[in-house]
Amino acid sequence: MTKMQSSRSCLAILLAAGEGTRMKSARPKVLHELGGRSLLGHALAALSEAGADTVVVVTGPDRPEVALEARAILPAALSAIQSERRGTAHAALAARDALTAGYDDVIVAFADTPLVRPETFSALRAALAGGAAVVALGFEARDPAGYGRFVMRDEALEAIVEHKDATPEQRAITLCNAGLMALDGHQALSLLEAIGNANAQSEFYLTDAVAVARSRGLTTAALTAPESEVQGVNDRAQLAVAEAEFQCRKRLAIMAGGATLTAPDTVFFSHDTRIGRDVLIEPHVVFGPGVSVADGAVIHAFSHLEGAEVGPGATVGPYGRLRPGAKLAEKAKVGNFVEIKAAEIGAGAKVSHLTYIGDATVGAEANIGAGTITCNYDGFFKYRTTIGAGAFVGSNSSLVAPVTIGAGAFVGSGSVVTEDVAPDALAVARGRQVAKEGWAQTFREASMARKAAAKSPETR
Ligand code: UD1
Ligand code: CA
Repeated sequence: MTKMQSSRSCLAILLAAGEGTRMKSARPKVLHELGGRSLLGHALAALSEAGADTVVVVTGPDRPEVALEARAILPAALSAIQSERRGTAHAALAARDALTAGYDDVIVAFADTPLVRPETFSALRAALAGGAAVVALGFEARDPAGYGRFVMRDEALEAIVEHKDATPEQRAITLCNAGLMALDGHQALSLLEAIGNANAQSEFYLTDAVAVARSRGLTTAALTAPESEVQGVNDRAQLAVAEAEFQCRKRLAIMAGGATLTAPDTVFFSHDTRIGRDVLIEPHVVFGPGVSVADGAVIHAFSHLEGAEVGPGATVGPYGRLRPGAKLAEKAKVGNFVEIKAAEIGAGAKVSHLTYIGDATVGAEANIGAGTITCNYDGFFKYRTTIGAGAFVGSNSSLVAPVTIGAGAFVGSGSVVTEDVAPDALAVARGRQVAKEGWAQTFREASMARKAAAKSPETR
């Protein structure tokens, strides 16, 4: 997607210094994933799409991996350390250097709130452009307990009161603070510095920027978003709820792009899955990271794909498995119980049943019989198999790499191929069939006689 255009400069401060203890994880909370991308990555992507020129990620002192992940996703991302957890305003001030640079817009967002859409960040910026000094994002909470409440007067946002500091009347308010906020960049530093910590938690609350701005006669504004968009992730159950929301959006986007999903709720995508038009995806398909499917392809039920390219009109499954480096050219066919890894399958080639093709190239229109295996690994090294265009590999063959089957060649069923096969040749590498007339009859009669003798009492 292209960046949303604005002539105003924008600094985003992404707070990621959370403790995340409720995740019960060795990993920092914001590095847990939705659709194969970290929570932090989702937030960074949305901010950069909303036109943030600079993003500063604020991390805890003992979490270098968070800053590393930020740079892996957005190389220009800066990081700042909040050495003590003293509240959201205190955390935002860790980006003081960037704040003094005088951006037009400043957005403060939370890395554990990964589903905020770029359009929503842009709407906050538009409210700043319209003259507001502080813009907060609210939502109607099903259960408001724990959230900051929006105190409105005459349609304007007067203050945000944290749950712990709220009066019983204020606790009855259901319009809650989503947490993220936009501030006029030329006043942001001064507003944040004016925030005190005289409250129930002795923290510096970002939310107090609203009351400070009002006390200076500045304009404040409240926007709202659906709760599903602003939900945060604090534990694994909330991570699953956020994943469900992510999947729901991705399915809708893929169907809007012209693909048919027979049972969308059973198909799981990654953040980067690309699906063309007139693609049919049957029930129970999982897309790991790095998959693209071209127009007109069919992914049959119960298939699993990752790091793979499916060409136009190609088919996969049912029960197909494409692993990283699988590339199917136009109209290639990968059938049931077939695994493809680091291999190109040529146009119109067929690998229809019960096969493993790894570290290989299969030429156009080749036919790979059921049960064919490329023996690509000797426990130390991997070797390639090359199968020429139009070659025919008989069922249940083992192709011991490195090996080349020439174009148009035949391999007899059940062969163990250890040497190259010339183009248009026939290779048969198996025991020759021996036929013994009447052998079975003789065997049966002799065996029955032995059994009868063993059972009869006179012979005891
Ligand atoms: C915050 C809001 C509250 C809002 C809620 C929405 C404040 C004071 N309160 O409350 O109005 O309804 O989010 O979920 O802003 N963080 C730091 N350093 C700190 C404190 C927090 O980086 O010292 C980061 C956390 O990593 C987290 C975010 O800021 O990503 C929010 O902090 P948290 O303590 O969860 O705030 P809440 O009490 O939930
Ligand atoms: Ca929180």
